[in-house]
Amino acid sequence: MKKVGIIGWRGMVGSVLMDRMMSEGDLNRKTMDPLLFSTSQVGQNAPDFGRELPPLADAFDLETLKQQDIILCCQGGFYTNRIYPDLMKTGWKGYWLDVASSLRMKDDSLIVLDPVNLDVIMNGLHSGIKTFVGGNCTVSLMLMAMGGLFRENLIEWVTSMTYQAASGAGAMNMKELISQMDVLGKSATNLLNPSSVILELDKTITETLRSDEFPKEQFGVPLAGSLIPWIDKAMDNGMTKEEWKGFAETNKILMNDPAIPIDGLCVRIGSMRCHSQALTVKMKKNVPLDEVEDIIKSGNDWVKLVPNYKEASLAALTPTVVSGGLTIPVGRVRKLNMGPDYLTAFTVGDQLLWGAAEPVRRMLNITLD
Ligand code: HSE
Repeated sequence: MKKVGIIGWRGMVGSVLMDRMMSEGDLNRKTMDPLLFSTSQVGQNAPDFGRELPPLADAFDLETLKQQDIILCCQGGFYTNRIYPDLMKTGWKGYWLDVASSLRMKDDSLIVLDPVNLDVIMNGLHSGIKTFVGGNCTVSLMLMAMGGLFRENLIEWVTSMTYQAASGAGAMNMKELISQMDVLGKSATNLLNPSSVILELDKTITETLRSDEFPKEQFGVPLAGSLIPWIDKAMDNGMTKEEWKGFAETNKILMNDPAIPIDGLCVRIGSMRCHSQALTVKMKKNVPLDEVEDIIKSGNDWVKLVPNYKEASLAALTPTVVSGGLTIPVGRVRKLNMGPDYLTAFTVGDQLLWGAAEPVRRMLNITLD
């Protein structure tokens, strides 16, 4: 039986993770002795997760942390940056599993997405790697969608144009998105009847969006009725950090050598928790479309090919349909005018599941096996 310390289980990603662990019966595994940590409610009773748990332990107490064989951390990068180095200095030899980005690019960590890189994970475990981190959400979702084509070594390069959900920015941002929608709706209440003048509605909405009173504390600008063409901080080459991760993390997940060029623009749009991506793929050779589709389908158990026609796309390829589920639909697959080696595809995935909690939940089970 391994002692598993869980930190940050109350936050948004942590809650999704606990839900998934309960659905899959992970918490009742005989090989696992779980202990929940807290930064603020030490000593209080643990919530009911379907298994009797000791009172909440102190997430800043190195002595208790040190006793864990595995630590699963959803507390965020600030906590990881503060505690991980101190814990390592004590000589702790356990496994640290994390959803935050802080440790992703360390030489002695691996990024986990086992439906795509189980071989990399198993080699890492055998060679003594102890730090395993979930990938950036757009990267993990893109790889879940296109894993088959990467596996078959058919990809020369990829661009990814993203349509990222409010959840990627945080729980408060999700609330603000809906507040923005509410304010917009209320400003237009008398202008929605069929006979109202459309340009009056448009003018009212634009004025509301531009008003100083419009709620935008979290995003800084309106997202509802608009979009935000910038995610995360600037790098020094015109990229955003979110865009930089596409190349750096994909190649680390797959351990590609040489690295595959991956680049694109990351944009925030007003969906709640599903990131979508429009992909352009330069294939290494001209593969017939039906073979491409078969390879995409064969990528993993969650990818689902959506036939490239309107009804199927509207029925299966939207954030509305995908939200809260593990399915990764890939649709709009076709060759581009640029030539037979150029492919386009559109994919949607739940940013909190495959984009955050699920790869780390699965890594915990791999570590326990
Ligand atoms: N950075 C992502 C986003 C979420 O802002 O949507 C975390 O992977």
